[in-house]
Amino acid sequence: EMMKDVLGLTFLETTLKEKLHLDEVIVVSGDSDHSPLVKKEMGRACAQCIMNHLQDDEVVAVAGGTTLAAVAEMMIPLGHRRNVLFVPARGGLGENVENQANTICAKIAERAHGKYRLLHVPDQLSKEAYESIIEEPEIKDLLKIIRSAKMLVHGIGDAQTMAERRKTPKEDFEKIKKGKAVGEAFGYYFNQKGEVVHKVQTVGMQLEDLKNIRNVIAVAGGASKAKAIKAYMNQSLATILVTDEVAAKELLREL
Ligand code: BG6
Repeated sequence: EMMKDVLGLTFLETTLKEKLHLDEVIVVSGDSDHSPLVKKEMGRACAQCIMNHLQDDEVVAVAGGTTLAAVAEMMIPLGHRRNVLFVPARGGLGENVENQANTICAKIAERAHGKYRLLHVPDQLSKEAYESIIEEPEIKDLLKIIRSAKMLVHGIGDAQTMAERRKTPKEDFEKIKKGKAVGEAFGYYFNQKGEVVHKVQTVGMQLEDLKNIRNVIAVAGGASKAKAIKAYMNQSLATILVTDEVAAKELLREL
């Protein structure tokens, strides 16, 4: 904490917390765009933050991405907390295996010594397939559990970067571009104002469910994500932000 003061990180945390109307902001020093070590530190800070807020008998939903992979890598044991269940927030979003929520969920649970359940649904479902899959008893049961989560941990991405990284169908890509999407989180694409311009059709947590979640922890850093973070924050659904110094400074300039 003393180190944070010396670096001026406490100032960034309190100012951002106020301006973004969040319960908590955690800023680690450095630039995760250029340093894998800083990304790891963000992961460590996020893991600690999860433990600070987690209670017995709770469900934690996690999203995918490389930042969440860093959280998984730095995850710490649950300790005295009993009966915690980790689940992926949403079904397939077109990511590679290592970036998928399922993979990260299993890894986080393993490191935490907690339980987990996985959601096996194909990527980019058609409306018909979506409607029939959510009626499958096993999926239905898990979806209920996912929606009972008291905590959601997710990354935020630059819209264009995410659309390119996922195997986004051409029409959707055009829609994202035309809608001037700047930010992305768990398959939702947001414009500068925080309006949803596109969502990947899949099962699990939906944007409207977030208002029922006690702790929505967003973790994202690097100057390249400042606009994306700002856009998502305009939805004001997150309660906690874990970020890095360069993103925090860039964000403050934008606010
Ligand atoms: C996706 C998540 O898997 O990763 C999104 O569903 C997030 O919530 C994205 O925006 C961020 O990825 P990264 O690799 O930049 O952490």
